[in-house]
Amino acid sequence: MKKKMVIDVITIFPQMVEEIIKESILKRAQQKNIVKINIHNLRDFALDKHSIVDDYSYGGGAGMVFKPEPIFRAVEKIVGKKKRKRKGRIILLTPQGQTFNQAKAKELSREEHLLFICGHYEGVDERVKENLITDEVSIGDYVLTGGELPAMVVIDSVVRILPGVLNRRESFENDSFYQGLLDYAHYTRPRRFRRKSVPVLLLSGNHARIRKWRRQKALKNTLDKRPDLLEKIILSAEDRKILEELKGKKVKRAAPRFVSKSANR
Ligand code: 6GU
Repeated sequence: MKKKMVIDVITIFPQMVEEIIKESILKRAQQKNIVKINIHNLRDFALDKHSIVDDYSYGGGAGMVFKPEPIFRAVEKIVGKKKRKRKGRIILLTPQGQTFNQAKAKELSREEHLLFICGHYEGVDERVKENLITDEVSIGDYVLTGGELPAMVVIDSVVRILPGVLNRRESFENDSFYQGLLDYAHYTRPRRFRRKSVPVLLLSGNHARIRKWRRQKALKNTLDKRPDLLEKIILSAEDRKILEELKGKKVKRAAPRFVSKSANR
């Protein structure tokens, strides 16, 4: 059995984080004792009576910077003074970080302790990065107002792959990205809906053929929408044959367009 994972979050918006972790699968994972998530208000570690955690940037220019002392005090209270006395990672959420992906989620899921620091403003004092942080993570090439939502994104993706969090019906082995491809098409009841039918093969009970059909759909979906992913994975001879066939008859269908009834035409 894997030891229970402990996740700490240092933030200036503790309620924002609280609201998200007390719902859904994150809540269930905590109830099942697979993970414990602790939230810490950075302002509680400020040195002055106004709880100030930021200051101007030396050298001038617009934008505030997180002061080092409150962050050092918070981290030392959580992990102890001896650096990395507890095994784990100290992760700063910042647009300057390494872009998060499923491989990083897997890597983090093997740790016993994760400590997230939600960045803000122009960033944090460089001495925090040099002396405390083990990983700088971004969730993509766009700018958000703070690291809280990114921290929730990372925590959600890590917790859902911890053993025992998902049940068999929700299992992640067939996820998009788990095998490096986008997902195949899914259908559920009814069999016929607004004159559109479910592919008959899926009703055949022939599991070998269904597996092959799904692999074809996953490859086609990936080729159409994210061809870059195909460069990064090892394809079987069968996969490569399917792809060659798909590329041969590649006639791009126009995307269906939604036309509003009230639109002036
Ligand atoms: Cl981690 N923080 C902020 N502020 N913006 C982001 C981000 C992080 N990742 C993408 N955009």
